[in-house]
Amino acid sequence: MSLLITGGTGYIGSHTVVELQTLVSEQTPSQDIIIVDDLSNSSTVVLDRVKQITNKTVTFIKADVCDYNAINAIFDQYDIDAVIHFAGHKAVGESNEKPLSYYHNNVSGTVTLLQVMAEHNVKKLVFSSSATVYGDNVSPLNESMPTSATNPYGQTKLMVEHILFDLAKSDSEWSIACLRYFNPIGAHSSGLIGENPNGIPNNLLPYVAQVAVGRLAQLQVFGDDYDTVDGTGVRDYIHVVDLAQGHVKALQNLDKISGCKAINLGTGNGTSVLEIVNTFKEISGQDIPYKIAPRRAGDLATVYANADLANELLGWQATRNLYTMIEDTWRWQSENPQGF
Ligand code: UFG
Repeated sequence: MSLLITGGTGYIGSHTVVELQTLVSEQTPSQDIIIVDDLSNSSTVVLDRVKQITNKTVTFIKADVCDYNAINAIFDQYDIDAVIHFAGHKAVGESNEKPLSYYHNNVSGTVTLLQVMAEHNVKKLVFSSSATVYGDNVSPLNESMPTSATNPYGQTKLMVEHILFDLAKSDSEWSIACLRYFNPIGAHSSGLIGENPNGIPNNLLPYVAQVAVGRLAQLQVFGDDYDTVDGTGVRDYIHVVDLAQGHVKALQNLDKISGCKAINLGTGNGTSVLEIVNTFKEISGQDIPYKIAPRRAGDLATVYANADLANELLGWQATRNLYTMIEDTWRWQSENPQGF
Protein backbone atom coordinates (compact mmCIF):
# COMPACT_ATOMS: atom_id res chain seq x y z
CA MET A 1 0.00 0.00 0.00
CA SER A 2 1.22 3.50 -0.80
CA LEU A 3 0.42 6.94 0.47
CA LEU A 4 0.42 9.79 -2.03
CA ILE A 5 1.56 13.20 -0.81
CA THR A 6 0.97 16.10 -3.18
CA GLY A 7 3.17 19.12 -2.48
CA GLY A 8 5.43 16.87 -0.42
CA THR A 9 8.59 18.90 -1.00
CA GLY A 10 7.01 22.08 0.41
CA TYR A 11 7.31 23.45 3.93
CA ILE A 12 4.48 21.57 5.66
CA GLY A 13 4.62 18.62 3.25
CA SER A 14 8.29 17.87 3.92
CA HIS A 15 7.85 17.98 7.70
CA THR A 16 4.85 15.67 7.38
CA VAL A 17 6.86 13.19 5.30
CA VAL A 18 9.49 13.09 8.08
CA GLU A 19 6.87 12.50 10.79
CA LEU A 20 5.13 9.84 8.71
CA GLN A 21 8.38 8.00 8.20
CA THR A 22 9.31 8.11 11.87
CA LEU A 23 5.99 7.89 13.75
CA VAL A 24 4.06 5.62 11.40
CA SER A 25 6.80 3.08 10.90
CA GLU A 26 7.22 2.76 14.67
CA GLN A 27 3.56 1.94 15.11
CA THR A 28 2.29 0.23 11.98
CA PRO A 29 3.80 -1.58 9.02
CA SER A 30 5.35 1.19 7.00
CA GLN A 31 3.58 2.50 3.97
CA ASP A 32 5.51 3.51 0.87
CA ILE A 33 5.45 7.24 0.38
CA ILE A 34 5.06 8.79 -3.05
CA ILE A 35 5.59 12.51 -3.33
CA VAL A 36 4.20 14.41 -6.28
CA ASP A 37 5.26 18.04 -6.61
CA ASP A 38 5.74 20.39 -9.56
CA LEU A 39 8.68 22.10 -7.73
CA SER A 40 7.17 25.52 -8.49
CA ASN A 41 7.86 26.62 -4.92
CA SER A 42 10.26 23.97 -3.63
CA SER A 43 13.45 22.10 -4.46
CA THR A 44 14.58 18.49 -4.71
CA VAL A 45 17.30 19.28 -2.14
CA VAL A 46 14.46 18.73 0.35
CA LEU A 47 14.41 15.04 -0.63
CA ASP A 48 18.10 14.65 0.28
CA ARG A 49 17.55 16.44 3.57
CA VAL A 50 14.53 14.27 4.43
CA LYS A 51 16.62 11.20 3.70
CA GLN A 52 19.40 12.53 5.97
CA ILE A 53 16.88 12.88 8.80
CA THR A 54 14.96 9.62 8.36
CA ASN A 55 17.48 7.35 6.63
CA LYS A 56 14.66 6.30 4.31
CA THR A 57 13.92 7.06 0.70
CA VAL A 58 10.69 8.20 -0.86
CA THR A 59 9.50 7.94 -4.44
CA PHE A 60 9.43 11.37 -6.07
CA ILE A 61 7.48 12.24 -9.21
CA LYS A 62 7.63 15.72 -10.70
CA ALA A 63 4.10 16.50 -11.84
CA ASP A 64 1.38 19.10 -11.57
CA VAL A 65 -1.87 18.06 -9.86
CA CYS A 66 -3.74 19.83 -12.65
CA ASP A 67 -2.31 17.33 -15.15
CA TYR A 68 -4.96 14.59 -15.31
CA ASN A 69 -2.84 12.18 -17.37
CA ALA A 70 0.19 12.46 -15.10
CA ILE A 71 -1.86 11.93 -11.93
CA ASN A 72 -3.85 9.13 -13.51
CA ALA A 73 -0.62 7.36 -14.49
CA ILE A 74 0.59 7.51 -10.87
CA PHE A 75 -2.63 5.90 -9.63
CA ASP A 76 -2.36 3.24 -12.38
CA GLN A 77 1.19 2.42 -11.41
CA TYR A 78 1.00 2.40 -7.60
CA ASP A 79 -1.43 0.80 -5.17
CA ILE A 80 -2.44 4.05 -3.49
CA ASP A 81 -4.63 3.81 -0.45
CA ALA A 82 -4.87 7.42 0.78
CA VAL A 83 -3.79 10.93 -0.19
CA ILE A 84 -2.54 13.95 1.75
CA HIS A 85 -3.10 16.93 -0.50
CA PHE A 86 -0.81 19.89 0.21
CA ALA A 87 -0.13 21.10 -3.33
CA GLY A 88 -1.43 24.61 -3.90
CA HIS A 89 -0.57 28.27 -4.07
CA LYS A 90 -0.60 30.04 -0.71
CA ALA A 91 0.21 33.76 -0.90
CA VAL A 92 -2.74 35.99 -0.10
CA GLY A 93 -1.32 39.12 -1.82
CA GLU A 94 -0.32 37.25 -4.98
CA SER A 95 -3.80 35.72 -5.16
CA ASN A 96 -5.28 39.21 -5.60
CA GLU A 97 -2.96 39.80 -8.57
CA LYS A 98 -3.29 36.35 -10.17
CA PRO A 99 -6.73 35.03 -9.23
CA LEU A 100 -6.98 32.70 -12.23
CA SER A 101 -3.73 31.02 -11.35
CA TYR A 102 -5.05 30.43 -7.80
CA TYR A 103 -8.45 29.12 -8.92
CA HIS A 104 -6.77 26.90 -11.51
CA ASN A 105 -4.12 25.42 -9.24
CA ASN A 106 -6.01 25.18 -6.01
CA VAL A 107 -9.55 24.43 -7.19
CA SER A 108 -9.17 22.77 -10.62
CA GLY A 109 -6.07 20.91 -9.40
CA THR A 110 -8.01 19.48 -6.46
CA VAL A 111 -10.99 18.53 -8.64
CA THR A 112 -8.62 16.72 -11.03
CA LEU A 113 -7.03 14.85 -8.14
CA LEU A 114 -10.46 13.92 -6.72
CA GLN A 115 -11.63 12.65 -10.11
CA VAL A 116 -8.61 10.38 -10.42
CA MET A 117 -9.02 9.22 -6.82
CA ALA A 118 -12.71 8.38 -7.38
CA GLU A 119 -11.92 6.52 -10.62
CA HIS A 120 -9.39 4.39 -8.71
CA ASN A 121 -11.69 3.90 -5.73
CA VAL A 122 -9.30 5.74 -3.38
CA LYS A 123 -11.54 7.63 -0.97
CA LYS A 124 -9.35 8.64 1.94
CA LEU A 125 -8.08 12.19 1.94
CA VAL A 126 -6.40 14.67 4.27
CA PHE A 127 -6.69 18.20 2.88
CA SER A 128 -4.73 21.37 3.75
CA SER A 129 -7.32 23.97 4.55
CA SER A 130 -6.75 27.20 6.43
CA ALA A 131 -8.09 29.31 9.27
CA THR A 132 -8.62 31.91 6.57
CA VAL A 133 -12.06 30.28 5.97
CA TYR A 134 -13.28 31.79 9.26
CA GLY A 135 -13.41 35.27 7.70
CA ASP A 136 -13.94 37.85 10.41
CA ASN A 137 -15.49 35.64 13.11
CA VAL A 138 -14.38 36.52 16.63
CA SER A 139 -11.72 34.24 18.16
CA PRO A 140 -11.49 31.61 19.60
CA LEU A 141 -12.56 30.09 16.28
CA ASN A 142 -14.40 26.78 16.29
CA GLU A 143 -15.39 24.49 13.45
CA SER A 144 -19.12 25.15 13.67
CA MET A 145 -18.77 28.88 12.94
CA PRO A 146 -19.97 30.19 9.58
CA THR A 147 -17.24 30.44 6.94
CA SER A 148 -16.35 33.18 4.46
CA ALA A 149 -13.36 34.50 2.56
CA THR A 150 -12.03 37.91 1.63
CA ASN A 151 -9.41 37.16 -1.05
CA PRO A 152 -8.97 34.66 -3.92
CA TYR A 153 -6.61 32.46 -1.89
CA GLY A 154 -9.18 32.17 0.92
CA GLN A 155 -11.95 31.60 -1.65
CA THR A 156 -10.04 28.66 -3.12
CA LYS A 157 -9.72 27.02 0.31
CA LEU A 158 -13.40 27.60 0.99
CA MET A 159 -14.47 26.35 -2.45
CA VAL A 160 -12.46 23.17 -2.03
CA GLU A 161 -14.01 22.64 1.41
CA HIS A 162 -17.49 22.95 -0.18
CA ILE A 163 -16.50 20.51 -2.93
CA LEU A 164 -15.24 18.02 -0.34
CA PHE A 165 -18.41 18.29 1.77
CA ASP A 166 -20.57 17.77 -1.35
CA LEU A 167 -18.45 14.83 -2.48
CA ALA A 168 -18.70 13.13 0.93
CA LYS A 169 -22.46 13.73 0.93
CA SER A 170 -22.81 12.12 -2.50
CA ASP A 171 -20.87 8.98 -1.57
CA SER A 172 -20.59 7.73 2.00
CA GLU A 173 -17.40 5.79 1.27
CA TRP A 174 -15.32 8.96 1.41
CA SER A 175 -13.42 9.81 4.61
CA ILE A 176 -11.99 13.32 4.47
CA ALA A 177 -10.21 15.42 7.07
CA CYS A 178 -10.13 19.12 6.18
CA LEU A 179 -7.40 20.46 8.42
CA ARG A 180 -7.72 24.18 9.09
CA TYR A 181 -4.22 25.44 9.85
CA PHE A 182 -3.52 28.48 11.95
CA ASN A 183 -0.01 30.02 11.58
CA PRO A 184 2.66 27.34 11.03
CA ILE A 185 6.19 28.38 12.02
CA GLY A 186 9.35 26.64 13.22
CA ALA A 187 11.41 23.95 11.56
CA HIS A 188 12.65 20.42 12.14
CA SER A 189 14.95 20.30 15.18
CA SER A 190 17.80 18.96 13.00
CA GLY A 191 17.99 22.34 11.23
CA LEU A 192 17.95 20.46 7.90
CA ILE A 193 14.50 21.45 6.65
CA GLY A 194 12.45 24.59 7.18
CA GLU A 195 10.47 27.33 5.47
CA ASN A 196 12.13 28.68 2.33
CA PRO A 197 9.89 31.25 0.66
CA ASN A 198 10.58 32.51 -2.86
CA GLY A 199 11.52 36.19 -2.92
CA ILE A 200 10.60 38.59 -0.12
CA PRO A 201 8.61 36.72 2.54
CA ASN A 202 4.97 37.69 3.08
CA ASN A 203 4.67 36.00 6.45
CA LEU A 204 5.98 37.33 9.72
CA LEU A 205 8.37 34.59 10.85
CA PRO A 206 10.40 34.12 7.67
CA TYR A 207 10.63 37.92 7.43
CA VAL A 208 11.90 38.28 11.01
CA ALA A 209 14.32 35.38 10.50
CA GLN A 210 15.77 37.00 7.38
CA VAL A 211 16.20 40.31 9.22
CA ALA A 212 17.97 38.48 12.06
CA VAL A 213 20.34 36.74 9.64
CA GLY A 214 21.08 40.00 7.79
CA ARG A 215 19.32 39.28 4.48
CA LEU A 216 16.70 41.99 5.06
CA ALA A 217 17.30 45.35 6.70
CA GLN A 218 14.17 46.02 8.70
CA LEU A 219 10.80 44.54 9.60
CA GLN A 220 7.65 46.55 9.07
CA VAL A 221 5.12 45.96 11.84
CA PHE A 222 1.73 46.32 10.20
CA GLY A 223 -0.26 48.37 12.71
CA ASP A 224 0.21 49.10 16.41
CA ASP A 225 -3.28 50.39 17.13
CA TYR A 226 -5.24 47.14 17.27
CA ASP A 227 -7.21 46.31 20.38
CA THR A 228 -4.65 43.75 21.57
CA VAL A 229 -2.11 43.35 24.37
CA ASP A 230 0.38 45.81 22.77
CA GLY A 231 -1.56 47.10 19.75
CA THR A 232 0.01 44.67 17.25
CA GLY A 233 -1.74 41.74 15.55
CA VAL A 234 -2.23 38.52 17.51
CA ARG A 235 -2.04 35.08 15.86
CA ASP A 236 -2.04 31.41 16.86
CA TYR A 237 1.46 30.26 15.88
CA ILE A 238 1.87 26.48 15.73
CA HIS A 239 5.09 24.50 15.39
CA VAL A 240 5.26 22.88 11.94
CA VAL A 241 6.24 19.54 13.53
CA ASP A 242 3.11 19.62 15.72
CA LEU A 243 1.14 20.41 12.58
CA ALA A 244 2.83 17.54 10.73
CA GLN A 245 1.97 15.18 13.59
CA GLY A 246 -1.63 16.37 13.34
CA HIS A 247 -1.63 15.05 9.74
CA VAL A 248 -0.31 11.67 10.88
CA LYS A 249 -3.07 11.50 13.52
CA ALA A 250 -5.69 12.53 10.96
CA LEU A 251 -4.53 9.82 8.60
CA GLN A 252 -4.53 7.21 11.35
CA ASN A 253 -8.04 8.21 12.39
CA LEU A 254 -9.63 8.59 8.94
CA ASP A 255 -11.55 5.36 9.48
CA LYS A 256 -13.36 7.03 12.39
CA ILE A 257 -14.33 10.01 10.23
CA SER A 258 -17.40 9.37 8.18
CA GLY A 259 -17.85 11.93 5.45
CA CYS A 260 -15.91 15.17 5.57
CA LYS A 261 -14.83 16.80 8.84
CA ALA A 262 -13.26 20.24 9.28
CA ILE A 263 -10.72 20.20 12.12
CA ASN A 264 -8.66 23.11 13.48
CA LEU A 265 -4.93 22.61 13.94
CA GLY A 266 -3.84 25.38 16.26
CA THR A 267 -2.59 25.78 19.81
CA GLY A 268 -5.41 27.89 21.21
CA ASN A 269 -2.91 30.60 22.25
CA GLY A 270 -2.39 34.04 20.74
CA THR A 271 0.95 35.88 20.40
CA SER A 272 1.47 39.46 19.22
CA VAL A 273 3.92 40.64 16.54
CA LEU A 274 6.06 42.44 19.13
CA GLU A 275 6.09 39.37 21.40
CA ILE A 276 7.44 37.41 18.43
CA VAL A 277 10.07 40.06 17.67
CA ASN A 278 11.25 40.25 21.30
CA THR A 279 11.42 36.47 21.74
CA PHE A 280 13.30 36.14 18.44
CA LYS A 281 15.78 38.81 19.57
CA GLU A 282 16.37 37.02 22.86
CA ILE A 283 16.89 33.59 21.29
CA SER A 284 19.02 34.66 18.33
CA GLY A 285 21.02 37.34 20.14
CA GLN A 286 20.60 39.45 16.98
CA ASP A 287 19.16 42.91 16.67
CA ILE A 288 15.85 43.00 14.80
CA PRO A 289 15.26 46.57 13.63
CA TYR A 290 11.60 47.35 12.97
CA LYS A 291 9.36 50.27 12.23
CA ILE A 292 5.66 50.67 12.75
CA ALA A 293 3.84 50.78 9.39
CA PRO A 294 0.15 51.19 8.51
CA ARG A 295 -2.18 48.21 8.98
CA ARG A 296 -2.07 45.67 6.14
CA ALA A 297 -5.35 45.50 4.21
CA GLY A 298 -7.47 42.50 5.20
CA ASP A 299 -5.64 41.78 8.49
CA LEU A 300 -7.64 41.06 11.64
CA ALA A 301 -6.57 42.11 15.13
CA THR A 302 -6.75 38.68 16.73
CA VAL A 303 -6.97 35.14 15.31
CA TYR A 304 -6.64 31.99 17.41
CA ALA A 305 -8.15 28.54 17.51
CA ASN A 306 -10.41 26.58 19.72
CA ALA A 307 -8.38 23.40 19.39
CA ASP A 308 -10.72 21.03 21.28
CA LEU A 309 -12.08 19.07 18.32
CA ALA A 310 -8.65 17.82 17.18
CA ASN A 311 -8.07 16.51 20.68
CA GLU A 312 -11.48 14.80 20.84
CA LEU A 313 -11.44 13.29 17.35
CA LEU A 314 -7.75 12.66 16.72
CA GLY A 315 -6.23 12.59 20.21
CA TRP A 316 -3.92 15.36 19.01
CA GLN A 317 -2.77 18.57 20.60
CA ALA A 318 0.17 20.86 20.00
CA THR A 319 2.99 20.31 22.49
CA ARG A 320 5.77 22.70 21.40
CA ASN A 321 5.85 26.18 22.94
CA LEU A 322 6.74 29.50 21.35
CA TYR A 323 10.31 29.31 22.60
CA THR A 324 10.88 25.99 20.79
CA MET A 325 9.15 27.31 17.67
CA ILE A 326 11.50 30.29 17.49
CA GLU A 327 14.60 28.36 18.54
CA ASP A 328 13.96 25.89 15.70
CA THR A 329 13.24 28.69 13.22
CA TRP A 330 16.51 30.35 14.13
CA ARG A 331 18.54 27.13 13.93
CA TRP A 332 17.17 26.50 10.42
CA GLN A 333 17.71 30.09 9.26
CA SER A 334 21.18 30.58 10.76
CA GLU A 335 22.45 27.23 9.43
CA ASN A 336 20.87 27.82 6.00
CA PRO A 337 21.01 31.60 5.54
CA GLN A 338 20.15 31.38 1.84
CA GLY A 339 17.62 28.56 2.28
CA PHE A 340 18.05 25.28 0.39
N1 UFG B 1 3.07 41.04 9.97
C1 UFG B 1 3.85 42.18 10.13
N2 UFG B 1 4.87 42.38 9.25
C2 UFG B 1 5.15 41.51 8.23
C3 UFG B 1 4.34 40.35 8.08
C4 UFG B 1 3.30 40.17 8.97
O1 UFG B 1 3.62 42.98 11.04
O2 UFG B 1 6.09 41.75 7.46
C5 UFG B 1 1.97 40.79 10.94
C6 UFG B 1 0.59 40.74 10.31
O3 UFG B 1 0.04 42.02 10.23
C7 UFG B 1 -0.13 39.79 11.30
C8 UFG B 1 0.96 38.84 11.76
O4 UFG B 1 2.18 39.52 11.51
O5 UFG B 1 -0.60 40.51 12.41
C9 UFG B 1 0.97 37.51 11.03
O6 UFG B 1 1.00 37.74 9.62
P1 UFG B 1 1.32 36.57 8.58
O7 UFG B 1 1.36 37.20 7.22
O8 UFG B 1 2.52 35.81 9.01
O9 UFG B 1 0.10 35.58 8.73
P2 UFG B 1 -1.48 35.85 8.55
O10 UFG B 1 -2.11 35.57 9.87
O11 UFG B 1 -1.76 37.14 7.92
O12 UFG B 1 -1.86 34.74 7.47
C10 UFG B 1 -1.66 33.38 7.71
C11 UFG B 1 -1.33 32.66 6.42
C12 UFG B 1 -2.50 32.66 5.50
C13 UFG B 1 -3.72 32.16 6.18
C14 UFG B 1 -3.96 32.86 7.47
C15 UFG B 1 -5.07 32.15 8.21
O13 UFG B 1 -0.23 33.27 5.78
O14 UFG B 1 -2.20 31.78 4.43
O15 UFG B 1 -2.79 32.83 8.29
O16 UFG B 1 -5.48 32.82 9.32
F1 UFG B 1 -4.77 32.33 5.38
